[in-house]
Amino acid sequence: PSMSTRIPIFVLVLLSAVSASSPSPINGNGSDIDLAALLAFKVQLADPLHILADNWTTKLGRLRRLRYLRLMGNRFSDSIPTTLGNLTRLVSLRLGHNELSGQIPPQMLAHMHNLKEIVLNQNELIGQIPSYFFNNTPSMASIDFGNNSLSGPIPQAVASLSMLEFFSVQYNQFSGLLPQAMFNMSKLRVMAFEECANLTGMIPSNQSFSLPMLQLFTLAGNKFAGRFPIGLASCQYLQTLDLSDNSFVDVVPTWLAKLPKLRVLDFGSNNLTGFIPVAFSNLTSLNALALDNGNLKGEIPPNLGHIHELSYLNLASNQLTGSIPGTLEKLKSLASLDLSFNSLSGTIPIFLAKFTYLIILNLSFNSLAGQIPEGGCFLKPHLAVLDWECSSMWSPAPRISTMLRQISLK
Ligand SMILES: *[C@@H]1O[C@H](CO)[C@@H](O)[C@H](O)[C@H]1NC(C)=O
Ligand SMILES: *[C@@H]1O[C@H](CO)[C@@H](O)[C@H](O)[C@H]1NC(C)=O
Ligand SMILES: *[C@@H]1O[C@H](CO)[C@@H](O)[C@H](O)[C@H]1NC(C)=O
Ligand SMILES: *[C@@H]1O[C@H](CO)[C@@H](O)[C@H](O)[C@H]1NC(C)=O
Ligand SMILES: *[C@@H]1O[C@H](CO)[C@@H](O)[C@H](O)[C@H]1NC(C)=O
Ligand SMILES: *[C@@H]1O[C@H](CO)[C@@H](O)[C@H](O)[C@H]1NC(C)=O
Ligand SMILES: *[C@@H]1O[C@H](CO)[C@@H](O)[C@H](O)[C@H]1NC(C)=O
Ligand SMILES: *[C@@H]1O[C@H](CO)[C@@H](O)[C@H](O)[C@H]1NC(C)=O
Ligand SMILES: *[C@@H]1O[C@H](CO)[C@@H](O)[C@H](O)[C@H]1NC(C)=O
Ligand SMILES: *[C@@H]1O[C@H](CO)[C@@H](O)[C@H](O)[C@H]1NC(C)=O
Repeated sequence: PSMSTRIPIFVLVLLSAVSASSPSPINGNGSDIDLAALLAFKVQLADPLHILADNWTTKLGRLRRLRYLRLMGNRFSDSIPTTLGNLTRLVSLRLGHNELSGQIPPQMLAHMHNLKEIVLNQNELIGQIPSYFFNNTPSMASIDFGNNSLSGPIPQAVASLSMLEFFSVQYNQFSGLLPQAMFNMSKLRVMAFEECANLTGMIPSNQSFSLPMLQLFTLAGNKFAGRFPIGLASCQYLQTLDLSDNSFVDVVPTWLAKLPKLRVLDFGSNNLTGFIPVAFSNLTSLNALALDNGNLKGEIPPNLGHIHELSYLNLASNQLTGSIPGTLEKLKSLASLDLSFNSLSGTIPIFLAKFTYLIILNLSFNSLAGQIPEGGCFLKPHLAVLDWECSSMWSPAPRISTMLRQISLK
């Protein structure tokens, strides 16, 4: 394990201007309570890199009322000490990217009335989030519990956090229905539910859906059903929309063409029916488009060639017919093109050889004829073109998530 990947410890101590008049749930000297809480925190944790071994105590001696506790990426293990709950003035608590295990202490936030941010992502936390966990945190703006092993339902109280902007619980084992009121939150920018295994239910398709600030919405890898929520058509700031790998049954909605900022769109692995909308040519900011593993029919619309910035296009495993349109020649930024498992005919376009960024081309399992073009990107070793010739060279096409999900919205 290299030390260089470790994010340096960062504890920011601010002195609160507020003093005697602020109520505290615990009587006595505030600094002492904070100090006791943090020393207990230190005692309980395993600290293999000795991050807390020196200087910690002297620094703590200077703190009055801790407001920011940020201990990201220090390989702290064991459970989160319950004494943290004594840091009642905390505004920001970040313990992400450690090896913390066990349950989140159920009362941890009971007296943290000022908390705006809780970041516990990338740990080994298990168990449920108690239904009352967020009952006393009215200022909460950011919750990140991603990449743990948390289970059970998402607490209804989350939907009552009127300041909430960022909510990520991706890569956990949550199950059950999402609180329906979460789809009516005026400040929410990020909703990340990707790979929660068993989240299910419908998404409101009426006036109960109002997320005007939404920028990122990912539900991939769950069990949501019904139609794609039409309320998304009003999310003017939406950049990333990933509903892939669920049980939606719908046509590819034409209202998607009204989302001017859309950069990543993945509706793959659902029950998609009908045709690819011609209106998609409107989506000029789109970087990635995946409509794979459905029942789409008809031809590839020639005006997909208007989406100049497209670098990832996946229409694999549908029933598309006709030839590969010549207009796609304009998609010079394409890095990955997967049209495999359709009924496309005609020849392999020669212009593909000139796509200098192309690293994945999969045209296998179609009815294409003629020559494989020579030169250019066709010289690249990992290009999979036709199944029966070079199947051993295939490598799995990376999903959008690994290629373009890196767009940061925080
Ligand atoms: C709080 O405790 C610290 C450290 O023991 C001490 O220096 C300070 O005077 C105490 N303040 C009050 C208001 O009791
Ligand atoms: C403790 O802090 C001082 C001043 O910030 C620094 O010079 C010293 O190297 C630190 N000691 C350790 C062991 O980190
Ligand atoms: C801190 O929290 C622990 C556990 O919640 C509690 O038992 C203890 O009394 C608290 N300490 C102080 C100084 O308030
Ligand atoms: C979360 O887990 C997924 C799947 O294991 C991984 O691809 C992703 O990089 C992780 N996220 C972070 C922030 O580490
Ligand atoms: C998801 O639900 C299925 C069927 O109910 C169950 O077998 C599985 O254990 C659940 N997975 C998780 C991670 O909860
Ligand atoms: C909107 O739809 C949800 C479920 O999809 C339903 O529970 C709710 O009653 C509906 N609200 C209105 C006002 O129709
Ligand atoms: C949406 O939220 C607002 C503000 O919280 C509330 O007034 C309104 O009744 C909600 N609308 C629906 C349809 O639930
Ligand atoms: C194309 O985008 C414009 C501007 O954003 C919008 O007014 C128009 O309705 C869109 N066209 C379609 C077919 O959605
Ligand atoms: C998918 O949709 C088609 C057409 O609506 C339907 O015939 C088929 O049963 C659906 N399949 C699933 C798995 O829902
Ligand atoms: C090409 O498509 C086949 C069938 O869908 C798949 O197994 C293979 O991983 C794909 N190869 C590439 C490089 O995308």
